[in-house]
Amino acid sequence: MIRKILKWTGITLSVAMLAAVCTYTYMSVSMRSRMNKTYVFDQESIAIPADSAAMARGKHLVAIKGCQDCHGSDLAGKVMNDDGAIGRLVAGNLTFGKGGLPADYNASDWLAALRHGIHQDGKPLIFMPSHETTLLSQQDMAALIAYCRQIPKVDRVLPANDLGPVAVIMSYLGKMPLLSVEKIDHNKSMIARADSTEGAAQGQYLAISCSGCHRENFKGGEPLAPGFPPVPDITRSGHVGKWTKAQFITTLTSGQTPEGHVLKNEDMPWKMTAQYTRSELSSLYDYLQSIQ
Ligand code: HEC
Ligand code: HEC
Repeated sequence: MIRKILKWTGITLSVAMLAAVCTYTYMSVSMRSRMNKTYVFDQESIAIPADSAAMARGKHLVAIKGCQDCHGSDLAGKVMNDDGAIGRLVAGNLTFGKGGLPADYNASDWLAALRHGIHQDGKPLIFMPSHETTLLSQQDMAALIAYCRQIPKVDRVLPANDLGPVAVIMSYLGKMPLLSVEKIDHNKSMIARADSTEGAAQGQYLAISCSGCHRENFKGGEPLAPGFPPVPDITRSGHVGKWTKAQFITTLTSGQTPEGHVLKNEDMPWKMTAQYTRSELSSLYDYLQSIQ
């Protein structure tokens, strides 16, 4: 009797394991083929300015859009993550140094990356938040590209991306934004310029950068990856709803909330939000407070 039970337990376990292996293999093959797909979009071009106001705006955008959190403070790229579970995620060298962008990487290639989420060869960018940069106004896009194209060359050759099992499963299930090319509405054209007067409209434009983590409705949700804290609601119905504008600004510039909670920059990039102007933070507050 015992033997029979053991035998059946063994068989059941083997079947379950085989099923798990098959499911994983299927997910992995499917993700690999999505990552290797070649996309073709109409080539776009925009006038790239060279004046000092545009350069300053581009520099500010690099700071407040978190480009440096992933691509490094010199934008010459870095290995963002390297472990057995998520795997190796690498944000490329954006300079024209060794290991960086090819010498013929032109403004249309920048647009293809920032608007459509693809490399120069049409392959999808992995883990680059192009679904957010695609919503930049044409004026901001041009300033961003103008600034990035003239940053000092840095020689840095980085290893290739190599996804681990957790990244494969989470992105297959749509819980990790690996392929922004699949999320973008590629027919949507850029707005000419964003509202730059302080207030909720400007806040809405800026808050696109918060939506990747705090979700599109800003109501937060599950942790972004295993081992990270849950993402809080930052609308009127969350803590932010009880804070004054001054408290909100202090939180986003110091990393400490009125409740005394200390935000780690790796979880909530407050060193990025600290670089928003007071006026931009004020607009963000107005917008978030307007969401019930
Ligand atoms: C969440 C992290 C993250 C942020 C934030 C981010 N990037 Fe990236 N970016 C990546 C990764 C990862 C890649 C590499 C994708 C690949 O190799 O498939 C990448 C690739 C790129 C590429 C394409 C380079 C190439 O080799 O084709 C450009 C251009 C780029 N990023 C510009 C920017 C700019 C400008 C910003 C700020 C507005 C920015 N990125 C913000 C992670 C990020
Ligand atoms: C990379 C993901 C990420 C991005 C981008 C991000 N946040 Fe957060 N944010 C978090 C996480 C995670 C926490 C919770 C951290 C913790 O519990 O320690 C948090 C916490 C906060 C808090 C504290 C809320 C509370 O209830 O204490 C505020 C306010 C906040 N974020 C605002 C913003 C705003 C505004 C933006 C956009 C400008 C933004 N965040 C962008 C991940 C992010």
